[in-house]
This record gives sequence, structure tokens and C-alpha cells, in this order.
Amino acid sequence: MKEAATLAELRENLGVCTRCGLHQGRTNIVFGAGDENADLLFVGEGPGRVEDAKGVPFVGPAGKLLDELLQSISLTRSRVYITNVVKCRPPGNRDPIPDEIEKCNRYLVRQIELIKPKVLCALGRVAAGVILQRNVQITRLHGQKVEGPGYFIVPVLHPAAALRSAQNMAMIREDFENLRKYLDEDAVPPKTPAPEPEQMGLF
Ligand code: URA
Repeated sequence: MKEAATLAELRENLGVCTRCGLHQGRTNIVFGAGDENADLLFVGEGPGRVEDAKGVPFVGPAGKLLDELLQSISLTRSRVYITNVVKCRPPGNRDPIPDEIEKCNRYLVRQIELIKPKVLCALGRVAAGVILQRNVQITRLHGQKVEGPGYFIVPVLHPAAALRSAQNMAMIREDFENLRKYLDEDAVPPKTPAPEPEQMGLF
């Protein structure tokens, strides 16, 4: 298949996907939404119930918080891009399994290549693990700036976790203040080859 040159082409290549078992329970594929040329790219874990019903990422309770956090750093949804590690809802909102992550990974990797963000913000432990290709302790790593190939990776707590405790909420608010600072800085790390899909599932 020809390599997609735009996000619309990539979405077309994904088609009515049956590459992993998640297609059996989904209502809609949640490919991603926002600005194809965004400096800030968010990668979440996978669609929840509301996202599955609407086909749009982060539109449930966690999404409402994300909107508010964006507003707190003078951004809106239309100025960033938001996607997930897996594009279909895992049943009962369980974590995606390695096969599901691997099957979706080439689409995530191409989304990153096409968007060319300055900062990739991984929302939660699962997304951070996939992007950094290792197990992460999100409560330790959150808010830090890690060099990626041509962009900075900033893991933060998942907004759903922030909704569960005041301490987590304070943490994510501070992480977003840091995100603003990283976006305002000029430098980006040098570009090195993107990770191969086969490298996934090692965490
Ligand atoms: N949680 C996620 O990780 N992604 C969504 O799109 C919604 C909730």
C-alpha cells in the first residue's frame, strides 16, 4: 500500500479496520482530530464509551478536563492534534493488549511523522509506555521533557486519573504549565529514525 502523504490518506488506508479483535465491539473508529500542522500532539490510550459512540477522541469526562487544561495554557482543541494508541475502544475500558497496540502502531507512527509536532504529550502510563517503548512509572516521569526523534516527549498523568484525586489534579495542572514552557522554547531534538512497529509490545 502507498505510504500516506496526508492524514486523510492515512485514514483511508486504515479503512474499515479488522486487523485486531477490537473491531468486533466498536461502534466507530476514533482516528484522531485537530490540526494536521499542530506543534502539540496528544496521544491517549484508547477511546472510551463516549468516544466510541461519537468517533471523536476525548469527548467524555476526561475530554472535558483536557479542554479545560488546554484553555489554561491558552490553547484550544482546534490548535492541537489528539489521537490514541489504539483507535478502537477496548471492551470495558481495559488497557489495550500488545497485539492491539502493535496492529495500530504503524498508523500512530505515521500520524506523528505527518504532524511533525514539537511536543508529543503522552496521556497516561499506557501511552507513555508505547511512545517511550519501555515500562514507565508515570507518577515519577510526569511533566518531564524527554528527547524523541525530532520532538520532545512529555508524559503526563491521564486526565481520567486526575479526575479521581485532588493530588493528581494538581499534578496535571502543573504538567500543563510545563507543556506551555516547552512549547515556547525554540529547540527541538535532532531527528533519528522512527521506531519500527516490530519493536512494540516489549513493555
Ligand atoms: N481516554 C483515552 O485515553 N482516550 C480517549 O479518547 C478518551 C478517554
